[in-house]
Amino acid sequence: MQTISDKQGVKRYLINLTVNGDEYSPVIKGNTLLVNLLRDELDLTGTKKGCELGDCGSCTVLMDGKPVDSCLVLALEADGCEIITIEGVAQHGELDRLQRSFIDNAAIQCGYCTPGMILSAKALLTRNPHPTEPEVRAAISGNLCRCTGYVNIVKAVLDAAEATE
Ligand code: FES
Ligand code: FES
Repeated sequence: MQTISDKQGVKRYLINLTVNGDEYSPVIKGNTLLVNLLRDELDLTGTKKGCELGDCGSCTVLMDGKPVDSCLVLALEADGCEIITIEGVAQHGELDRLQRSFIDNAAIQCGYCTPGMILSAKALLTRNPHPTEPEVRAAISGNLCRCTGYVNIVKAVLDAAEATE
């Protein structure tokens, strides 16, 4: 990280991070939130803002493989980190099996919770490829959905896990 002062003496910080495999070196304010860096500076608006208080999980991204509420993370804290957003989940134009399973199970209504939900589920399947239903429910417990009642979401994650070798 490099500290830069403008003519008024206001400090900015040059950080380096990888987002969805691409390297970025943005200059940010000390109080810039990761969610705002992603959405406003990098145009990655798949990461949603809901409560901005750490309650809803709609802003979930993976930070070095772990799901975090990006509204609670300073962009400064992401210096040197690898971030995955929903835009980085599909590979080579092919939907991830979780994305496909959410579609096949009609686990999406308005879709606002879906990016965060999928990233929390992705972190779960990476560390535990064959979770039980309670484990799925625990993994997405920080992701609120006001539309679906969760039944189809849980089924979508379990189906995606079943398809995992
Ligand atoms: S917007 Fe981050 S947890 Fe709700
Ligand atoms: S699908 Fe609307 S909030 Fe979950």
